[in-house]
Amino acid sequence: MPSHVAIIMDGNGRWAEQKSLPRILGHKYGVETVKRIIRVANKLGIKILTLYAFSTENWKRPYNEINYLFLLLSHFMKKEIYELHNSGIRLRILGDLSKFPVSIRREINKVCSIIPKKVKLELNMALNYGSRQELIHAFKKMFKRGIKNPTEKIVSSFLYTSGQPDPDLLIRTSGEFRISNFLLWQIAYSEIYITRKFWPDFTEQDFKKAILEYQKRERRFGGLKPKKIK
Ligand code: IPE
Ligand code: IPE
Ligand code: MG
Repeated sequence: MPSHVAIIMDGNGRWAEQKSLPRILGHKYGVETVKRIIRVANKLGIKILTLYAFSTENWKRPYNEINYLFLLLSHFMKKEIYELHNSGIRLRILGDLSKFPVSIRREINKVCSIIPKKVKLELNMALNYGSRQELIHAFKKMFKRGIKNPTEKIVSSFLYTSGQPDPDLLIRTSGEFRISNFLLWQIAYSEIYITRKFWPDFTEQDFKKAILEYQKRERRFGGLKPKKIK
């Protein structure tokens, strides 16, 4: 089982457009998939689930769409808080929340401050996240600390994912073959799985299929094929 799965949840808008619905309804159904996949990941014993929910580039979208995403986020934080807590899920935010409305920031911080007695799943939600922004943020912090000779370990420890292992598996829905500024440092050796399914249609079965595919891969990390034990 992969320890850390990261997902680029893409295709909400196209899912809605395909059904002649407004794009925002795609986001609404997308939240249902988020809840479903969190539950499945927890059930399967995955340790870390990282979800790309809003990128630093998504501010280019129409004001109405961004506002609706905030509304969904606020709803999610208010409604899911106890469920998350009871299921042993701890929330961490990857990204710069300073641009978010104060009320939402307060709700998010409240959820993040609740630590279950026994953490089963660490849920990373990437909000106003961009990998380049994350790296610059890390470099600035290192500079302030007077770190002149950073190692890979030190750089990793200044990222939002500090203390966590890198993703083993990266999933992207909706068939796009790109990374879109997501975890550039952390996915150096992640296995990539792309499905054409739009995010609202992504099921428990699809998630399991991605994991099965991952389990068939041979990870070499630049080395050679491991010899069969005789
Ligand atoms: C992903 O779906 C959700 C966010 C980026 C917030 P999109 O909104 O990007 O959907 P498409 O790619 O336009 O279909
Ligand atoms: C990536 O999806 C960001 C999130 C899923 C939050 P986008 O839809 O923003 O990416 P591009 O524009 O297709 O690269
Ligand atoms: Mg998209």
